[in-house]
Amino acid sequence: MTPRPLLDIRSLTRDYASHSLFAAPHHTRALDELSLTVEAGTIFGIVGESGCGKSTLARLVMALDRPTAGHVIFDGDDLFSLPPHELIRKRADFQMVFQDPFGSLDPRQTVGRIVAEPLHVLPKKPSKAEIRDKVADMLESVGLNPDHATRHPHEFSGGQRQRIAIARALITEPKLVVADEAVSALDLSVQAQVLNLLMDLREKRGVTFLFISHNLAVVDCIADRVGVMYRGRLVETGPAHDVFEAPLHPYTKVLADAEPSIERFGRPPGQPRPAAIHNPSDETGCAFRARCPVAIERCALERPELRTIAPGRQAACHRAGEQGALSKTEPTSAPAG
Ligand SMILES: Nc1ncnc2c1ncn2[C@@H]1O[C@H](COP(=O)(O)OP(=O)(O)OP(=O)(O)O)[C@@H](O)[C@H]1O
Ligand SMILES: [Mg+2]
Repeated sequence: MTPRPLLDIRSLTRDYASHSLFAAPHHTRALDELSLTVEAGTIFGIVGESGCGKSTLARLVMALDRPTAGHVIFDGDDLFSLPPHELIRKRADFQMVFQDPFGSLDPRQTVGRIVAEPLHVLPKKPSKAEIRDKVADMLESVGLNPDHATRHPHEFSGGQRQRIAIARALITEPKLVVADEAVSALDLSVQAQVLNLLMDLREKRGVTFLFISHNLAVVDCIADRVGVMYRGRLVETGPAHDVFEAPLHPYTKVLADAEPSIERFGRPPGQPRPAAIHNPSDETGCAFRARCPVAIERCALERPELRTIAPGRQAACHRAGEQGALSKTEPTSAPAG
């Protein structure tokens, strides 16, 4: 029997309605029937250009927002069907680390209070002594000194602050941590340290991560599997390294080719491309076809669904798996051997 995934996202859709004074209201489909599963104890990376819906996905997985349609099944429970008090109880099991280690920590609080904060919403609040011990233990596990608990965030560097944010996320011993661009604001060497820390925490504490990043090399370094998003949909999934080395979807190839191998590691996020705003009711065929170098007539008529192309690998492309189809995206390269 295959084990139940820790996170099972089913056909998740989120529409936003925008209103302005001088134009007709329009809808943005930030997530479009996205499905994916994450096995316990693994790191699942999410990549995709700015505006493709990564943070929307993170917010829904954290139940900070509600979907227009679809389900988030976490550890066997459908989060959006749970009564509010059950959802509060469940929250201890999934936590989030945000991008900005400066904005996400309250400057007036001591580090000890910041790290302990999630413990106060637990149904059974630990005693003061237990809280103190847990905070000291947590600060130590993220490579900080337990004495740092009495200091304030401004006394720390960006990397140290992100460690504080990670300690806060882990204090309730969650099963899942959603990290949205958690290392993007850090210097290259600090990024590497924080990535090592996350991998270490996965190893020692069995934490499962949904790790969102613009940076393919960072995801390649840390993730077991990856999902590539384009305009609210998953266009490719598979083992991270295989996906970046030999993409099956033309969009993944565009992303991978835009990153000059290992030098891309730590590069600040590129200029955002035009946001993926579209009216869902207008959408037929493949959303990538206008940018796709190998599009055919079928791509305008029929929307490609995510399908298995090779063991463990899926792509949403009519041409995925076709011999030599993707080599056409690289006209100047040597013929594929
Ligand atoms: N509250 C909102 N109201 C209206 N539109 C929204 C809202 N939140 C997100 N969007 C739109 O949904 C789409 C997806 O946004 P989202 O923030 O999830 O993208 P992202 O992949 O996280 O981008 P980035 O890499 O820049 O962080 C965008 O077109 C965005 O403008
Ligand atoms: Mg985002």
